[in-house]
Amino acid sequence: MPTYLDLEVARAAYKIMHDLVQVKPGESVLITSDSKADFRPTEELAKAAEILGGKVMVAWHSTPKGYGALTMPYLPEPLKACVDKTDVWIEMNDQWLLYSPIWDKAVTNGRTRQVMLGGLGVERIVRLFGEVDIPALKVFQDTLTDMVHRARRGHIINAAGTDVSFEIDGARPVTNEIRYDIPGGHFMIGQIGWGPKEGTINGVIAFDGTISGGGDADLGKLEEPVFYDVKADRIQAIRGGWQADKLRAYYASLEDPNMYLAAHVCFGVLPTAQLGECTTENERVWGSTQWGFGHQGSCFTGGEPRTAKSHIDGICLSSTVWLDDVKVLENGKFVEPRLAELARAFGK
Ligand SMILES: [Fe+2]
Repeated sequence: MPTYLDLEVARAAYKIMHDLVQVKPGESVLITSDSKADFRPTEELAKAAEILGGKVMVAWHSTPKGYGALTMPYLPEPLKACVDKTDVWIEMNDQWLLYSPIWDKAVTNGRTRQVMLGGLGVERIVRLFGEVDIPALKVFQDTLTDMVHRARRGHIINAAGTDVSFEIDGARPVTNEIRYDIPGGHFMIGQIGWGPKEGTINGVIAFDGTISGGGDADLGKLEEPVFYDVKADRIQAIRGGWQADKLRAYYASLEDPNMYLAAHVCFGVLPTAQLGECTTENERVWGSTQWGFGHQGSCFTGGEPRTAKSHIDGICLSSTVWLDDVKVLENGKFVEPRLAELARAFGK
């Protein structure tokens, strides 16, 4: 019996598997999902991969509590054994396997194209992939990625009180999330991220969107800003209201000094993303910036991962960003002339 957005989700799933992941006949395709995630996108992705000639397996498993390495005690042994033995792994989990030891293995084996789409239900798969002009977004993202690659310094402010500076290490990768056809870890389209040069991140990061880190660190929408005072990449203090208090206690409970280290900064550039309850979508709200702390994947180090027990992300809305002396983004609107022109394709 037809259900809500049946045709649209099938089309979006095909777009992901055919246009972006580019599944080839005979490839092994694994899709993982826990019992908290909406299962319908998983089903449609599996069907699309089957149509393309993939050998498909869906692993629907018990739901862990927390993200990253914290998931390990909850995972079935066969899942731990299989995620790096596949050409394609699409992660649809509500509680992220991302940044766990098994994810590290899969994204560095030179074979697996891992795509993290955790927490995306039917409506989001349709809106965030199905309704996006992917070729136009690719031109925009390629242009911005190139600017980050060439820059050596970054500076970000926002109305909530962010004022943070850092250096950019030209030897480190810049993730441009729109190409899923190469081995390694990939994330939802509409995000450009990098790990700044180690030891150079200084200032105040004021999160005024959402904060998410699995378990008790899933704070969702923030009632008032949460401030991180950062010196040489490391959180010195977490300030704010009751949500800041809760987050500070969560950090302390992990007893892991690496959780206090910045792992990445990103631009959110997905035209159809809206701030809500889904971190994966929140991190792509147009004109926002995001910081992640804790586990730093190889996609950001450019080599071995810097391990931590988990990973916590926060969103700074309507950011203003300078790359070297060029203001590229102002209060959430891209103002650098080339980007401003390309943004018009999305009505931005
Ligand atoms: Fe992150």
